[in-house]
Parts: sequence; structure tokens; C-alpha cells
Amino acid sequence: MACFLKYPKYCDYPIENLPYGVFSTPSNPSHRIGVAIADVILDLSQVAHLFTGPELNRYQNVFKEATLNNFMALNPKAWKEARETIQSLLSVNNTSLQNDAHLQSRAFIPQSDAIMHLPAKIGDYTDFYSSIHHATNVGSMFRSRESALMPNWKYLPVGYHGRASSVVISGTPIHRPHGQILLADGTPPVFGTSKLMDFELEMAFFVGGSTKFGEPIPIQSAHEHVFGFVIMNDWSARDIQKWEYVPLGPFTAKNLGTSISPWVVTTFALKPFIVDNYSQDPEPLPYLKHSDNYNFDISLQVDITPKGTNVSTTVCRSNFKYLYWTVKQQLAHHTITGCNVNPGDLMGSGTISGDTSDSFGSLLELSWKGTKPLTLLDGSQRKFLADGDTVTMKAVCEGDSYNIGFGTCVGTLLPAIVR
Ligand SMILES: *[C@@H]1O[C@H](CO)[C@@H](O)[C@H](O)[C@H]1NC(C)=O
Ligand SMILES: *[C@@H]1O[C@H](CO)[C@@H](O)[C@H](O)[C@H]1NC(C)=O
Ligand SMILES: *[C@@H]1O[C@H](CO)[C@@H](O)[C@H](O)[C@H]1NC(C)=O
Ligand SMILES: *[C@@H]1O[C@H](CO)[C@@H](O)[C@H](O)[C@H]1NC(C)=O
Repeated sequence: MACFLKYPKYCDYPIENLPYGVFSTPSNPSHRIGVAIADVILDLSQVAHLFTGPELNRYQNVFKEATLNNFMALNPKAWKEARETIQSLLSVNNTSLQNDAHLQSRAFIPQSDAIMHLPAKIGDYTDFYSSIHHATNVGSMFRSRESALMPNWKYLPVGYHGRASSVVISGTPIHRPHGQILLADGTPPVFGTSKLMDFELEMAFFVGGSTKFGEPIPIQSAHEHVFGFVIMNDWSARDIQKWEYVPLGPFTAKNLGTSISPWVVTTFALKPFIVDNYSQDPEPLPYLKHSDNYNFDISLQVDITPKGTNVSTTVCRSNFKYLYWTVKQQLAHHTITGCNVNPGDLMGSGTISGDTSDSFGSLLELSWKGTKPLTLLDGSQRKFLADGDTVTMKAVCEGDSYNIGFGTCVGTLLPAIVR
């Protein structure tokens, strides 16, 4: 597949990728849908009239909206046609855009000029807990190695209904939160700022299509509702979490902000990077059993950059493929009760840890509850995040002839707001 734009072989956004996002520019503040290609954005609102295939000719307006929700609401056939149309418009063999300098000047925007926004209006956000290594590590710290996994863990993809209103786009600063903290067992809690701020390395997928209230999504067709993936940082206040999470799970320790990367990488782009599912023992119950591989080889990395330095330290290298539960299983379980889903719903994976100590996806695990501080390259030490730390998460599928990049999910932890 040859693109008429030139770019380095292993850039994040080759013609095989084509992730969708929502952007604006300083000279045009309206939010538009675009596709990342090389180091530019193809503004789909400018080329909507070129989507003339049988699936999309009646739906060209979905490319002129301020969010991806109505495009996500279509179906895999329409998404595939959109991808093929964009690929042919960008191909060396097609002259429609290549030979139209006027259209190009309106339709191509340098990524460096763009301000990125949330790709969709997120109606509902659910976060799973699907990494066996993460769940085992956390369970070992707070219970014991033997009873690290709760008895339900290998039977169902554990998750909780999170807060959609505080999901923010990469680049949004996060303030250290206030809350209740228990300093010692048997004493009353104190009110103060969290001292144990953490990141959680996650990925999340956007739901495509919708289901009716009362209709579960059958596992065999669950992939038809997976539109695409982003990187997610589920910022967590560990001290607040520890006091509040029993009996109903995370609450204010997690609603202080959840960051996502701006470009939604579609499942079409991920196809060449499908790998075997994580092997499951015991065998899942029938409603959670599927016969196809639906796991992805996506390299993940987390860097910390302290304030006032330009020195970044990679603190974690992990991979999406370490997840125990597939996203098909997550969707089938989520909806088994008849719970409906909507286009633009966001489903987080849970922290993605591998089985080695350099692949743990949170500082809680990396510093083993603060008992093993990390030394960063600037010489400073971390048990948890310090004010001014910038956390950068990267994700990329590394292929033989091209990469599929997700870009980055970035956020800086700012001091608590004095109220
Ligand atoms: C472009 O056309 C040539 C032949 O004219 C063909 O070999 C090649 O596969 C085409 N490339 C694309 C991207 O369609
Ligand atoms: C270019 O691709 C578009 C979208 O697939 C198609 O409608 C158009 O006919 C093609 N134009 C040329 C000149 O090949
Ligand atoms: C995952 O893929 C394997 C084949 O590699 C298959 O046997 C298994 O049933 C699939 N599904 C699950 C849930 O493991
Ligand atoms: C970090 O790098 C930027 C740009 O390269 C430079 O302007 C700034 O002075 C540097 N800061 C420090 C603390 O080295």
C-alpha cells in the first residue's frame, strides 16, 4: 500500500493505521473529525463528499460532526468502507486528492498545529481488572500470595462502573486530590491531600454500534462492537482508595481524572497484530467462550519526567497481550444481564502488568507498596508520584514493514488546589 505522502518507514501513522480523532486549530476552533496520516491530519469534514460507497453515501454527515459518536454508531461494514475510501484517497494511484492542491490545502493540517479533544462523548465508562499479574501483585500485597486472586477472578472479568465526566484528553493536567485518609488502624481518618498518587497503565476500547436494553451481546459477535483502542492512564490516589474501597470498590480515589490518548486505532489496523489468547484455566463458562484469537501484541511503555528536568526515565515496559480476559469476554460479561451499551462508551482494561518487575503497570507494584523506591535517571527517588511529574505512556505495534502507533497519553501531576 503506497501513500502519496512521504514518511519514515516506522512512523506512528502510516497508511496502514489511519486512527480517528477530533481536533481544532487556533484559526478554526470548531471541533472536526480527522485521521492521522504521517505528521498531518486529514480533515474528514473537507472530504466527506468523497465517501460515495454503498454503506456511507447516505451517512456522509457523520464526518462533519464534532464527535465520532455517530460514526461509531454505524457498523463494521461501514467502518471498513470508510477505511478503504481513506486508503484509496491517500494512495499513489488515486488522483482525487493528490492532484487537487486547493483541496489539499484545506484538508491537510499539520499535527503540530492541532489541539486534540476527546474523540467521543463518553456516555458510560467501565473499568475492568483483567491483568492476572496486576491482580496477583495487588492481592499479594494486601492479602497474601496464596489468596491473592479472589475466588471469582478466574471465572468472570471483574470490573466496576466508573465516572465518564472526568475522563480527559491527554495533556490535561491532573491535580493532586483531597480526601479522607486513614493514617493508622483504629484511629479516625484525617482530611488531607493524597500522599500516594499513582498512575495505572491501561488501554481502553470505544464501543461501536448500540444494543437494546435487555439484549446481551453474544460472545461470538462481540468484536462487532469494538470500534477501536486508546491508551489510558487511570490516575489513582492509593491512600484514599485504601480507606474508601470496601465494600463497593473504587470511588473518589479514581474519579479525580482519567486520561486517554487522542487517536482511536481501529481493530482493522490491529488485525495483523492478533496473537493467541492468554490461556485460561479453568475453562470459561459457555457465555464467555469464543473460538477465535482476540488478543493483541501492543508494546507499552511508561516514562516519568520530573518537573524542571528534561530527563525521562522509562519505569515500565509491558504489553497488551498479558491480559487474561479478552475484550470480547469483557463485553459479553458486561451485557449478560441485558445491560445496554452505546456508541462512545469507554471500556478500560485495568492496569496491564507483565510477570517481571520491570513490566509492572503502576508505581504501587513497581515500588512494591513503597518498600522499594525507584531511582530515576536524574538521581531522584520515587515511591509514588511527586508534584510536577509528567507521566507519558506510549503504545505501538511493531511490524516487520510498518508500525501501528497509538501516540502518547501524557499528563502532569500538579500540586493540590488550595481551597
Ligand atoms: C497502483 O497501481 C499499480 C499498477 O498500476 C499496482 O501495481 C499497485 O498495487 C497499485 N497500488 C495501490 C496502492 O493500489
Ligand atoms: C479515488 O478514490 C475515491 C474513493 O475511493 C474514489 O471515489 C475515486 O473515484 C478515486 N479517484 C480516482 C481518480 O481514482
Ligand atoms: C482463544 O483462542 C484459542 C485458540 O488459540 C481458542 O482455543 C480459545 O477458545 C479462544 N478463546 C478463549 C476464551 O480462550
Ligand atoms: C529542557 O529543554 C528545553 C527545550 O529543549 C529547554 O528550553 C529547557 O531549558 C530545558 N530545561 C532544562 C531544565 O534543562
